[in-house]
Amino acid sequence: TPTPTVDATTTALDSTHLNGTSAETEAGLFTSDLVSPTIAASLPDTYTLRSLRKSDYARGFLDCLRVLTTVGDVTEAQWDERYTWMNTQGKGGYYLLVVDDGTRIVGTGALIVERKFIHNLGIVGHIEDIAVAKDQQGKKLGLKIIQALDFIAENIGCYKSILDCSEANEGFYVKCGFKRAGLEMAHYY
Ligand code: ACO
Repeated sequence: TPTPTVDATTTALDSTHLNGTSAETEAGLFTSDLVSPTIAASLPDTYTLRSLRKSDYARGFLDCLRVLTTVGDVTEAQWDERYTWMNTQGKGGYYLLVVDDGTRIVGTGALIVERKFIHNLGIVGHIEDIAVAKDQQGKKLGLKIIQALDFIAENIGCYKSILDCSEANEGFYVKCGFKRAGLEMAHYY
């Protein structure tokens, strides 16, 4: 491999480098061909839509999720371990998408993929953990995240995507094209 040249630009970006890979080129949990070009192009200029990356620990990913529920105090080592699991044993099952405004993560959503025997080895997408930073809500980012997760689900061969939500969020998912179906039940351990 060629020896990297160090200039003012790469030095300035040093904090975003990971194992010699800049955040710009760092691979995420899934490839960019699964990012809807139409949705990506519809975002404001400085915003990007992309896969979650390991370096997103330092870009406020967990803070973005705090609008949804309790996250807890997750250390970087714990983050690395979970991310690495998703990217190895869990590969192909976890599609965590982020919206980056150029400075931090302002939106996220996940598609968890379940491979079944029924329905001719059907694949079902589970939409989970949708969150838009408080100061960015109401600008259609949530809708775009759902549309981008639908794009992934269709492209990897899911025959449907399902989700659980509170009554308070039903209207949002109806606007995203979802219909009420069934009833959620839970056992907590
Ligand atoms: N009830 C009814 N309609 C809503 C709601 C709601 N709670 N939230 C948004 N909408 C409407 C908007 O008014 C808009 O309608 P319009 O097209 O007529 O203007 C449409 O839905 C799209 O709204 P967005 O601007 O895309 O919504 P936003 O970017 O604010 O994201 C979200 C919505 C994700 C619910 C955000 O408010 C949020 O992060 N909330 C806190 C976390 C949360 O509750 N997440 C969902 C948990 S459920 C799950 O993860 C499966």
